[in-house]
Amino acid sequence: MKRRDFLNKVAIGTATGVGAVSIAAVITEILPPETESFSLVKIGLIDDYPINEFSFIPEKKIFLYRSRSHIRVLSAVCTHLGCTIKKSEQGFDCPCHGSHFDKTGKACSGPASRSLDRFKVDVNKQGIITVNLNRYVTEDFQLP
Ligand code: FES
Repeated sequence: MKRRDFLNKVAIGTATGVGAVSIAAVITEILPPETESFSLVKIGLIDDYPINEFSFIPEKKIFLYRSRSHIRVLSAVCTHLGCTIKKSEQGFDCPCHGSHFDKTGKACSGPASRSLDRFKVDVNKQGIITVNLNRYVTEDFQLP
């Protein structure tokens, strides 16, 4: 094989490889993100959660609040840079850079400026709680 033939084959192979990677990147962008079913998580029975308290579910990084009249689920991920927040007397504190959130998840002091995310939650007839980690709800959403 001549040197020129060899270099041509290497160039074609490289171009093909780059093209394949580019196509894969485009396909990844076009396809929808993970389906909703991946983000539906069952977190147990409603009666397993104390009333008028926040319960931390570490494997999902969420806080569930249950009162006699409603349930709400807040993300435990700080909206500044993603550290896991901790429950405090007045709400939630971020151990990384000191952001503070009130008990509704509203950002009170920075550097985080955005409130904690709230997730849609449902309870079925058997009392099993399902949280949709892919569906955000507004502050006024609470499951009656
Ligand atoms: S990550 Fe929470 S304040 Fe920076």
